[in-house]
Parts: sequence; structure tokens; C-alpha cells
Amino acid sequence: MKNINYGDRVILIDHKSRRHMIKLKETGRFSSQYGFIDHNDIIEAGDGGIIKTNKNFSYRVFSTTYTDYVMNLKRNAQIIYPKDTAQMLMEADIHPGLSVLESGIGQGALSMALLRALGNQGKLTTYEIREDFAEQSKKFIDDFCRELTEIHDIKIGNIYEGFEGIYDRILLDVPEPWHVIEHTKNGLVGGGIIVSYIPTILQVKTYVDTLKASAFFDDLSTFEIIKRPWKVDGLSVRPEVWMYNHSAFIVRARKTADA
Ligand SMILES: C[S@@+](CC[C@H](N)C(=O)[O-])C[C@H]1O[C@@H](n2cnc3c(N)ncnc32)[C@H](O)[C@@H]1O
Repeated sequence: MKNINYGDRVILIDHKSRRHMIKLKETGRFSSQYGFIDHNDIIEAGDGGIIKTNKNFSYRVFSTTYTDYVMNLKRNAQIIYPKDTAQMLMEADIHPGLSVLESGIGQGALSMALLRALGNQGKLTTYEIREDFAEQSKKFIDDFCRELTEIHDIKIGNIYEGFEGIYDRILLDVPEPWHVIEHTKNGLVGGGIIVSYIPTILQVKTYVDTLKASAFFDDLSTFEIIKRPWKVDGLSVRPEVWMYNHSAFIVRARKTADA
């Protein structure tokens, strides 16, 4: 059992599988329609423990994961969902030591995943056009993984107008990613990978046409990730009636040595 402490975030899961993320404080108390629980008692129960409210309802206690954290952010911008983030990290082959360019920051959900995958080795540069988004997401990122932010540089700027430096990887979540392609001629290494998250198929078409027209990208792929949950409960074993349907398309390409 991992210890949890004041200042940590935990997820409390009730008997109807509803999840509540809370930050533990010394005199804190969690309240719901099922009663209250003192934060002190949550720490006593520990990670994976079970705790009862004053009205005798049970909550399971778990330490917060990346998915819990980003799905509970108060959103001003749409985040990349963890099902897509996971695949983007694989498609971009993110590993410690790389120099990575990202744009835009949004809520910082992808930045946090990139920082975790880089493990404080290499460099993450994030271009964001809106200062308020940059400030807010920096707070989220510091709150979640401050220990991994030494290698993170947030720059205020319009990525469509270009960027400084040359990178091993570029990850884009901006409305018109095709404007970035001309800048990758000198800003992405040969063999480097660009992965873009694109909501609609018309945007995908413009983007892929631009990649092809540049003549310095190869090994292109376009796909979407569909997560289909199943109910497995006694003899009731079937897909859930709801599912995570469309979020966005992911387009991946590799830079050739021809630029
Ligand atoms: C959908 S949000 C990104 C969400 C982010 N990937 C996450 O997971 O939290 C899009 C972001 O791109 C920024 N943006 C839009 N156009 C931009 C541009 N031309 N240059 C830089 N940032 C831009 C927006 O301000 C916004 O923060």
C-alpha cells in the first residue's frame, strides 16, 4: 500500500462508480449526498483502501493517475483525450533525450504527458498564442508534475509564423496545422516525426495535401482511435450502449532528407 499524504490528490470512487478527485488538506472534509469523510481518515485508509462516510456509505481511495488529473481539469480549451495522447506518444516515438516542439498548450494535457515521457531528459518547447492559456496551463503542469518541468520552455507566439530551433519531434494541436509545414523545412531534423491532432476530415485533407506538396515528408498515416467499452457483469457480456466516438484524427509523417 502506497502512502498518501496531505497535499496529494486522490480519487474517491462511490458505490455507483462515480469518481471525485480531491486534494488532501489537514483539516479537510469531503462531503456528498452520502455523508462526509475527513481527509485525515482517507490518509489512514491509504492508496487502494476503503473508507466509510458517517452515513455508512463506502468509498474506494486511489491515488490520482494522469487520466484522472486531466479529465478533472476545469476546461477553457478542449484537451487531447488520454486514449489519443497515448497513441500520439507512440506514433511520435517519444523517449528521454529528444528535443520536442509542441503547439498549442491548451490546458497542458499533452505537455504533461510529454514531460512524463521525456523524464526530465531532452527539451520540450511549447508555443502558445494566448498568454492567459499559457499561464493557466503552467499552473496545472506545475501542480501535476513540477519535478519534470526543468526542461520545459513555454513561448508565447503564433506557430504559423514560425519557430526558433530545430527539433526531433513536432506535435501539433492547432486549428490550421498546415501553416506550420513550411517552417518544418529547417525546423525538423531528417527522419524527425510530426504528429498532428485534427478534429475534422476537411482539415485533415488540407493538412495532408500540404504535407505531400512540400515533398519533404514520407511515411504518412491518418487514423482515429475508437475506444469501445464493454460491460462484463455475470452473464451480461456485451458492448456498452454508449462509447467514446469521434474525438479527432491523428496524422503522422516523417521528414525526409530531401528538404
Ligand atoms: C485545443 S487547444 C490544445 C489542447 C492541448 N493539446 C491539451 O491537450 O491540453 C489549442 C491551443 O492552441 C492554441 N493556438 C491556436 N492557434 C495557435 C497558433 N497559431 N499558434 C500557437 N498556439 C495556437 C490555442 O490558444 C489553444 O491553447
